[in-house]
Order: sequence, then structure tokens, then C-alpha cells
Amino acid sequence: MESNLWGTRRQRHHQRVTIPDELVRQLRSAQRVVVVTGAGVSAESGVPTFRDAQTGLWAKFKPEELATPEGFQANPRLVWEWYAWRRKMVAAARPNSAHFALREMEKLFPEFHLITQNVDGLHQRAGSSNVIELHGNITRTKCFNEGTIITTSQDSDEVPPRCPQCGGVLRPDVVWFGEVLPESALEKAAEVSANCDVFFSIGTSAVVYPAAALSADALRAGKTVVEINPEPTPLTALAHFVVSGAAGVVVPEIVNRVRSFVS
Ligand code: OAD
Repeated sequence: MESNLWGTRRQRHHQRVTIPDELVRQLRSAQRVVVVTGAGVSAESGVPTFRDAQTGLWAKFKPEELATPEGFQANPRLVWEWYAWRRKMVAAARPNSAHFALREMEKLFPEFHLITQNVDGLHQRAGSSNVIELHGNITRTKCFNEGTIITTSQDSDEVPPRCPQCGGVLRPDVVWFGEVLPESALEKAAEVSANCDVFFSIGTSAVVYPAAALSADALRAGKTVVEINPEPTPLTALAHFVVSGAAGVVVPEIVNRVRSFVS
């Protein structure tokens, strides 16, 4: 009961979020804006985050069993089924107001790059273009042996299904712990982060590298760094602006404030 009351109060606090005037002023003249998103951006779509206490996936499941190549090799069926469950959850989810506001944001600046750690494809479904996916996409499947993306559907009851080309097992096209990120995506993300005017870190715990290093790239290059998160992270003390609140409330408000000046 108490936690419910607290939760309600906290939610109300989020509704009254204040965007610093100085941030709006900087955004009004910004030419190049970069946004890095994490699981918190999809939380309001009902997709669980990883590290939130109680509700996060890593509070209930073991990452070493479900999100490593070794875990997959030890129990491919378990891992495949866990991702099948998550794929179903993501398919049933809808983009929320944060996703839609980020789609609108790309129209406000001459250069805009959206980098995501999320594998749910909700940014694309909200209409964002040119999304840089650092951790892959759960809706895609690839061959465990060859890494080839497999688009053909399988008429097989085998779990996991087999690669039609080499007969190896198929796996989701996501980055697991201990694996390297897609090289071109990471290179592009690092380049635009170091060369933007304003860098946003939204809905991420900022603890998983190399994605977490992008804000450091921006800070080192002297760029304005903004964090949007209801909870503090390792980035909070370093960011120039911190807006504490839910992405689905804060991001639309930022877009409104910048737009009301532009038009
Ligand atoms: P985490 O679960 O680590 O962090 C989610 C963050 O979102 C937390 O800091 C929350 O406070 C914040 N949050 C929760 N609700 C929010 C809301 N409504 N609006 C804004 N923020 C909110 O997720 P990530 O940082 O994305 O990697 O995790 C990074 C990577 O670790 C993931 O991509 C995944 C995971 O293991 C792989 O799968 C490779």
C-alpha cells in the first residue's frame, strides 16, 4: 500500500517535470543532436528493463545463462525459448510517447542521430529513421556458426531451428555479453557522439560498455550532455543537465519547448 502511494506520488512528480531554460536555449541553436537510448525508453510500453530492482529482467533471470554464447551452447533450447517469449512481448507492445517524441525530434535539427541499445525495434515502429542499433534486433535471426542473417521461415519443429545453408543452429541477432558490437554501428555512434552540439542519454543505466562510453566521448569533446532518467546513474554527476523523470513525459515536453520557439 505504502509503495503504491509512493509510486503514485512519484508519477505525479514526473508529470510536473521542468525543462531547464538554458537547455531549451542551447537546443534552439543546436545543429547536431545525438540521442542514446536504453531499456527505460521502452519501459512505458510495458517492455521490462534489465537492471531495475524487482521488475528488471536481470532480477529474475541469469544473464550468463541467457545472454552469452556459452549459455546458448550449454542450453540452446532454453535460450531460444526465452528470446521467443521476449519477441512475443515486444510484438505485442506499442511505441510510447517517448518513441514518438524522438521521431519528432529528428525533424527539429539539421543533423540528428538516434543510437539505441534496445533490441525491440520500437523506435523504428514509431517512425524514426536511420536508427543505429548497437545491440542488434530481437526480431532478426542469424546462424550461430556463420553469423548469416536468415530471413526465410522454417517449416521445422526443431528448437532452435536450423540454418537452411549450413545446418547449424539459429540464434537471435542480438549482442550477447562477451561479444563484439557491430563494428560500423559502433564507429558511427562514436563519431557522431564526439561531433554533436547536444548529446542525450535517455533511459539507460549507463553501465554497459562500450555504449556507456559514448557519453564520455561527448564530454571529452566538450559537448553538452543531458541525462533523462528517473533514477541516478554513473553519468548523473557528470552531465550538464539532468532531467529526472519518465522519458514518456520528459521527451515530449522538450520537443514542445523547442518547437514553440521554432514555429
Ligand atoms: P537497464 O535496465 O540497465 O537500465 C534501464 C534504465 O532505465 C535505468 O537507469 C532506469 O532508471 C531507467 N528507467 C526506467 N524507467 C524509465 C522511464 N520510464 N523513463 C526513463 N528511464 C527509465 O537498461 P540499459 O541501460 O538499456 O544488453 O541496459 C544496457 C544493456 O544491458 C542492454 O542493452 C542489454 C542489457 O544487458 C544486451 O542485451 C547486450
